[in-house]
Amino acid sequence: MVPLTMEKAASSAPGKVILFGEHFVVYDKPAIVSAINLRVRVEAWRYEKPGVWLGYRTLVDHPSTRAVEYVLEKTGLMSGIRLKILSKIPASVGLGSSASVSVASAASASLISLGRIDRELVEKAALEGEKIVHVNPSGIDTTIAVRGGSGIYRRSRGFSSIDIPLKKILIIDTGKTRRTGEMVSRVREFSEKNKERFSEILSREEELINEVLDAFKSLDFEKIGELMLVNQSLLKEVGVSSNEIEEAIKLALDAGAYGAKLTGAGGGGCVICLVDEDKLEKVSKSISNKFKVYLTELSAEGLREEKI
Ligand code: PMV
Repeated sequence: MVPLTMEKAASSAPGKVILFGEHFVVYDKPAIVSAINLRVRVEAWRYEKPGVWLGYRTLVDHPSTRAVEYVLEKTGLMSGIRLKILSKIPASVGLGSSASVSVASAASASLISLGRIDRELVEKAALEGEKIVHVNPSGIDTTIAVRGGSGIYRRSRGFSSIDIPLKKILIIDTGKTRRTGEMVSRVREFSEKNKERFSEILSREEELINEVLDAFKSLDFEKIGELMLVNQSLLKEVGVSSNEIEEAIKLALDAGAYGAKLTGAGGGGCVICLVDEDKLEKVSKSISNKFKVYLTELSAEGLREEKI
């Protein structure tokens, strides 16, 4: 048995926004993703009873449970773990909260088992956790929650960090929650019924990512906004937009945003809007009459150990 090196530990991980490429990333197309400054903190204690506990209740069918169990299996720790989850990331609205919780839970378990965060192990463990709630997770959410910053993610090639010219993004929460797995299945159904069109959409998405990278280089915010709308139209076509999303986008554009699109799985959840700094106040104000709005910083720090 591996000796226990910590009785208690804490770590935190960021939420994320997918700037471009959600859903198509499941089909091995590239996506651009950024960590945001909303975080989840998970505290963990070694516990005399076996299993994974949330407070004093066993936690079943939860991504954190699977992620922690995976860490315990791989490190050989023969102990139960009790967790306390403190999240600032709204759940089920596309900001990656389940991935961040799994990552921070696995990291705290890694600290208890090994006395350090084994980041590779945490990434694998959190992906196992995600499989419980997402039909076929691409791995983008767990990867960005560990690495932080911004980057391009592709299933078969992993993550490469990039510098993006965007510091902040306005997030509109439509208030409608939904399940990622259901939205992923909806896209799969579309792809099966419309094979040829889906393959054209995937090719267009890949081209679009290259156009975005060029627009990032030339700091062409109007172009970036335009490409957000192109991406949105592809997402709408595959069936993951909703009335709330379309309404939020219209409000943002009418108030002067460069562009807007859904982020994450869609079907409700959040919309991101690119807005010039001097129009931020006006745009947020006119949207906040109808929806909750957050101004969030991008390229936030990834997984880290916290004091407990
Ligand atoms: O809505 P979220 O935070 O669960 O984002 C899911 C991103 C998808 O591309 C829709 C699915 C995936 O596994 O990549």
